[in-house]
Amino acid sequence: MILKHLLGYVLALLYYIPWITSDVPVEQALPRPLDLSLTWYNEFCVQLSWNVPEGVDASCELKYIVIYTNNRKSITEKKKRAEFKRCVALMGGVHFSVQSECNKDQSSRSEPAVYTIAAPTELVKDFHCFQNSSVTINCFWTPINNTPGNLQLYYSRIENKTAVSPTLRCSEYLPEVDKTIGCHIKGVDGLAVFLQINGTVNGSPVRNTFEVNLMDNVKPAAPKVNITQEEKKLILTWDSPEHSTPKCWDYWLKYTKCQNTLSKLIKSTDASRQRKQKIPYDSRCQYRVQVKAVLTRYCGSGESDWSHEEKYGEDDWSNLVIAVVIPASVFLISILFLSCLMKHREKLFPQIPQPSLMFKDMLNISKEQKTFISNLYVPVEEDVECNVSLENKLPVPIMQPDS
Ligand SMILES: *[C@@H]1O[C@H](CO)[C@@H](O)[C@H](O)[C@H]1NC(C)=O
Ligand SMILES: *[C@@H]1O[C@H](CO)[C@@H](O)[C@H](O)[C@H]1NC(C)=O
Ligand SMILES: *[C@@H]1O[C@H](CO)[C@@H](O)[C@H](O)[C@H]1NC(C)=O
Ligand SMILES: *[C@@H]1O[C@H](CO)[C@@H](O)[C@H](O)[C@H]1NC(C)=O
Repeated sequence: MILKHLLGYVLALLYYIPWITSDVPVEQALPRPLDLSLTWYNEFCVQLSWNVPEGVDASCELKYIVIYTNNRKSITEKKKRAEFKRCVALMGGVHFSVQSECNKDQSSRSEPAVYTIAAPTELVKDFHCFQNSSVTINCFWTPINNTPGNLQLYYSRIENKTAVSPTLRCSEYLPEVDKTIGCHIKGVDGLAVFLQINGTVNGSPVRNTFEVNLMDNVKPAAPKVNITQEEKKLILTWDSPEHSTPKCWDYWLKYTKCQNTLSKLIKSTDASRQRKQKIPYDSRCQYRVQVKAVLTRYCGSGESDWSHEEKYGEDDWSNLVIAVVIPASVFLISILFLSCLMKHREKLFPQIPQPSLMFKDMLNISKEQKTFISNLYVPVEEDVECNVSLENKLPVPIMQPDS
C-alpha cells in the first residue's frame, strides 16, 4: 500500500520536472505605437491617431489597447485600426494611453504611448446644470475673478461616444443672481450634453468644456398640491413632474396640523396611493401641506423643491387660546407676582439678624450703644406702585437686642 503511494509521487514528480526545467518561450514585448497625435473634429470630440509600431512579425494579429481617462473615469477599449475617437470634457484634463498587442496575448503588450490634454485655465466655477423637464435644462456658473466679460455658452447633445449634435449658442440667459449666471436651454433631450464656455484671456482663446449626465441632474418644477375635504377626511392630491414616467417618482409629503408637523415618504411602488393621500381631518386645526418629488434611483437622481404651502381650514380660536394665550397669560401673571414679591420681600419676610452679629454686639455693648437696627437693611422707597398694601398697617417687626 505504502509502496503504491510512493510510486504515485515519483510518477507525479517525473511528470512535472520537464515542465519546470525546460525553456518556456517568453514572448518578446512589442514596440509601442508611434507618433501619437490628436485633432479636434468639433468643439467636443477628438481623434487620436498613431503609426503602426516597427518590426512587427507578419504572423502577429495587431490590436491596440486604448485607456482613456476623463472626469475621474477610466475606460479601456481594444481597437484594430490605429485611431480612437471620443467626445471629451476638458475640465480636469484628459489622458490617453495606447499599447500594442499581438494575437490577444497579454504578455506581448507594449509599453504605453501616452497623450495628455492638460486641464485648461478655469474661466468659471460651480458649473452645474439641471434638467427641469425632459427637453429643457438650466445651467449655472459663476465667473472667476479676472476672467473676461465676453464669456459665452455653447452646447451640443451627445449622440453616441463619438458624435454630438451641431453646436448651438445659449440664446436665453437667466437673470443674474449673486454673480451666478444661468442659461435656459430648450430642445435638449437624450442622456448627456456637452457644454463649452469660452472667452479670451490675455489675447489667447480659452475653452472650458463640461459633460453633464442629464438623468443624474434632474430638478423638475415642484408639484402642485390640491386639498379637498370628504366628510371627516382630507384628500391631498398633486401632479407628477412632466419629466420621466410617473413610476420614476417617490414623494415626500409634509404636513402641519395645528402645531404638529408630520412627514412621510410615499414610494413609487405604492402605486395605488401615489399622489393621493387621505388624512383624518380635525376641524379645529389648520392644515398646511407641502410635497416634494424625488427621482427613484432606477431612473436617475434629482428632486424638486418643496411645493408651495397649501393651507386648509383655520386654527380654531379656542385652540389658539389653549395653545398660546393661556400659557402666555400664566407666564405674565407669574412674572408680575414674582417681581412684586421681590420688591416687598423685606416687609413680607423680615430679615432675621445674624446670630454671630448678635453675640458680637452683646460683647461690645459697653463700648458702643449700638442697636441691631443699624445692621438691618432699610428698604429704599419703591418707585413702582404695587397694590400690596398690607405692610403699612402692620408694625415692622424689628428685633431688639437685650441690653
Ligand atoms: C454615432 O453617430 C454618428 C452620427 O449620428 C454615426 O455616424 C456613427 O456611426 C455613430 N457611431 C456609433 C459608434 O454608433
Ligand atoms: C467661442 O467658441 C465659439 C464656438 O466654438 C466660437 O465661434 C467663438 O468665436 C469663441 N469665442 C471666443 C471669444 O473665443
Ligand atoms: C424650467 O426652467 C425655466 C427657467 O427657470 C422656466 O422658465 C421653465 O418654466 C421651467 N420648466 C419647467 C417645466 O419647470
Ligand atoms: C382640486 O380638486 C378638486 C376635486 O378634484 C377640483 O374640483 C378642483 O378644481 C381642484 N383645484 C385645483 C386648484 O386644482
